[in-house]
Amino acid sequence: MQKLLKIITYPNDILKKKSQKISQEIIKSKEFQILCDDMAETMIKKDGIGLAAPQIGKNIRLAIINSKEGPLYIINPQIIKRSWSKEWGEEGCLSVPNVFGKVKRNSKITCVYADRNGEEKKISPKGLMARVFQHEIDHLDGILFIEKAKNIKTQNLRA
Ligand code: CO
Repeated sequence: MQKLLKIITYPNDILKKKSQKISQEIIKSKEFQILCDDMAETMIKKDGIGLAAPQIGKNIRLAIINSKEGPLYIINPQIIKRSWSKEWGEEGCLSVPNVFGKVKRNSKITCVYADRNGEEKKISPKGLMARVFQHEIDHLDGILFIEKAKNIKTQNLRA
């Protein structure tokens, strides 16, 4: 059974730290594989479109993105190409509950990463998926969307 992980919320120094690269040896470990499953479960239960490891208290370069095909496990991601065009779009974050704001992001990116088997992958998401990749990779560099957002508003959707 997967367990629900506690989500770290703003302000907490863990969210501001640059996260560490993950070795192949760690990727292959049982502990890491369990963490991947628990994070995916947590993201889905909390209705997140993405979740980065610092958000559950671990400063390692792992993020999970909820794609149409299911959870994508992104390890040591690097954006190797960014489109010239950018677009504004509304973002929120499980670590900054009930806060939303518009952030300008590249419309399309190319990202290389390792999947949870340690295999190298390359993906070129655009639109919303490109936005989620950039938001999650920012988490790994200690950057929150509220540092880049305009028109920040507070809205309690559960109220
Ligand atoms: Co976030």
